[in-house]
Amino acid sequence: MNKDIKKILVSEEEIQRRAEELGKQITEDYGSEGKTPLVVALLRGSVPFLAELIKHIDLDIQYDFMDVTSYEGTESVGDIKILKDLDTSVKGMDILIVEDIVDTGRTLSSVVNMLKHKGASSVKIVTLLDKPERRVKDITADYIGFEVANEFVVGYGMDFNQHYRCLPYIGVLKDELYS
Ligand code: IMP
Repeated sequence: MNKDIKKILVSEEEIQRRAEELGKQITEDYGSEGKTPLVVALLRGSVPFLAELIKHIDLDIQYDFMDVTSYEGTESVGDIKILKDLDTSVKGMDILIVEDIVDTGRTLSSVVNMLKHKGASSVKIVTLLDKPERRVKDITADYIGFEVANEFVVGYGMDFNQHYRCLPYIGVLKDELYS
């Protein structure tokens, strides 16, 4: 285990198993309606989860990336700024957003509104983690990997000051790292 990690919340094996279940569920849900989603991954945190999940979606999907940030500081506040937009047109498409963690819900709420405004036919969300206690916006992911308590987590794409994204599990940092 990394020396800065206090405890592991979700192991690599648990993530792999859950990604397989979610991939199968997504395949069934879209497949039964004869639809194929355009998978939209939000940079950078969703990348490891995207890579694991798409192995288990048995549909001819395409994926694209968006990079968005909130206007102020580390706490996501107010509206979002688009740092990288999609290369693909979303008009008439069924969009499946892939996110690492839904926290306040502000990021996703803005992204969902924007995609609908641009003419997406449907927008669904799959997230590796959900932190419902912190929610400010009324937004619920359609597919959730794991629910976590109100605790800052790192690993499997999630960072603290751009570090720890590459850990193969999800964990909590030792308290002294935050001081
Ligand atoms: P929201 O707009 O507040 O839902 O923020 C979502 C984004 O904040 C996520 O995509 C993460 O990048 C980041 N975030 C929220 N909670 C955590 C955490 O516990 N660890 C790492 N990043 C987090």
